[in-house]
Amino acid sequence: MALFVSFEGGEGSGKTTQLQMLCERLEQSGRRVLPIKEPGTTPLGRHVRELVKGRPWGGQKGGQTISKGAELFLFLAARAELVVKVLRQSSEDGNLVIVADRYADSTVAYQGYGRRLSIAAVEEMNRLATGGVMPHLTILLDCPPEVGLQRVGAVQIALPLDVEEVLTPGRMDEEDSRRFEDEPLEFHRRLRAGYRVMAGNEPERWQVIDATMSIEGVHEQVWRQVEPLLSASAGAAAAQLELHSPTSA
Ligand code: TYD
Repeated sequence: MALFVSFEGGEGSGKTTQLQMLCERLEQSGRRVLPIKEPGTTPLGRHVRELVKGRPWGGQKGGQTISKGAELFLFLAARAELVVKVLRQSSEDGNLVIVADRYADSTVAYQGYGRRLSIAAVEEMNRLATGGVMPHLTILLDCPPEVGLQRVGAVQIALPLDVEEVLTPGRMDEEDSRRFEDEPLEFHRRLRAGYRVMAGNEPERWQVIDATMSIEGVHEQVWRQVEPLLSASAGAAAAQLELHSPTSA
């Protein structure tokens, strides 16, 4: 069975750099690696990426925007496609490590905690889209949004974080979604708080790493989490690491 590792985190948390470093080290240690990026790995995923990132029809300033609900379903559509076309096809390969730059948890964090759609509803829709295929290990690269946003060159205005607001769901039809980089600092703080709640709720799957450390320092922490799963894989641990799928259970 393939080992499935995902990276999560806010803007500028260094996921992409860390993913590349992990993939190289895995290859050096003789593993086959399948890097995936959400959304984007499948042809449909690439279309979704253009829709949610590029806003080719003009975005906020140009006129037509995209509703929160539509955005949610676009991410879910890309995920459903990825699971069927890529993950299920690869999951039997015992020498393979699937390394994801975001996965279902991003939807809970961004559309749930960030956009304030119902967390329970997003989780349920995620279950439908993934068919229960979830990573064995999820690495949260945790850093204050001020640091991450500065790294990506975004300028944000600080508003105090209303704790109540983190937990109060909004409505799907309440407002249109803004591009993530244009969201206020408050949004990114909710995102970070949400990620930490998610990691705390499922500590056996998540590992939280302080992403403000040096790139090398973060990489060593990542490797410390991944390496034991590799040596354990193939034989005895294969059953334990098996991609969980209710349909095949
Ligand atoms: P990307 O350029 O890949 O950003 P990053 O390098 O931070 O991953 O763009 C993907 C954006 O889409 C990112 O801001 C997070 C967001 N996103 C969601 O809102 N929901 C999701 O389910 C996924 C996968 C991504």
